Amino acid sequence: MRILVTGGAGFIGSNVVDGYIREGHDVVVVDNLFTGKKSNLNPKATFYEMDIRSPEIRKIFEREKPEILNHHAAQISVPASVSDPLFDADVNLRGFLNLLENAVSHKTRKVIFIPQEEPFTERRKSIPRLRGICRSLFLLMRYRNSVRSTTLPIIGISTGSNTRS
Ligand SMILES: NC(=O)c1ccc[n+]([C@@H]2O[C@H](COP(=O)([O-])OP(=O)(O)OC[C@H]3O[C@@H](n4cnc5c(N)ncnc54)[C@H](O)[C@@H]3O)[C@@H](O)[C@H]2O)c1
Repeated sequence: MRILVTGGAGFIGSNVVDGYIREGHDVVVVDNLFTGKKSNLNPKATFYEMDIRSPEIRKIFEREKPEILNHHAAQISVPASVSDPLFDADVNLRGFLNLLENAVSHKTRKVIFIPQEEPFTERRKSIPRLRGICRSLFLLMRYRNSVRSTTLPIIGISTGSNTRS
């Protein structure tokens, strides 16, 4: 299958890419190298150095036509999300929505991602603002799935339980 992995130069994304390539899949990586490293990139994957918020993402969907979107690109620093919540939301919410919009319009069959909410809602109960932002992500995701993309399965994988909407 042709799989687009965002954040494929990061810790989790690069291991996901390696696994897909071992299984014989065709992998495309999008990463802006904000925290990711070129040395993490699998040489067998096609790499685009790009921000997930960019309008240019559309061209990658057009060219590569991914069947699956596996989303791991994220602003993951909790201190950064407290000191600059707008930046955090911009990357983690708007960036994700930009990908979803493209997945819908380019007929991607499935979206897989690790929800951001678990570390905050379950393990970091003392950061209410983040809980709000993370809950918004879920609301937006559900909105997107039910209103805009009824044919696009979105699977969130967490360490507790898997969610499907
Ligand atoms: N590491 C963990 O233990 C853990 C646990 C649970 C969930 N997660 C989730 O897994 C995902 C990946 O985490 P990680 O630990 O691999 O982090 P990471 O920082 O190693 O990887 C994130 C990747 O996203 C890229 N990126 C950041 N902003 C981007 C943007 N605007 N456009 C394109 N690329 C961008 C970075 O360059 C990096 O390569 C996150 O959603 C995180 O919340 C991680």
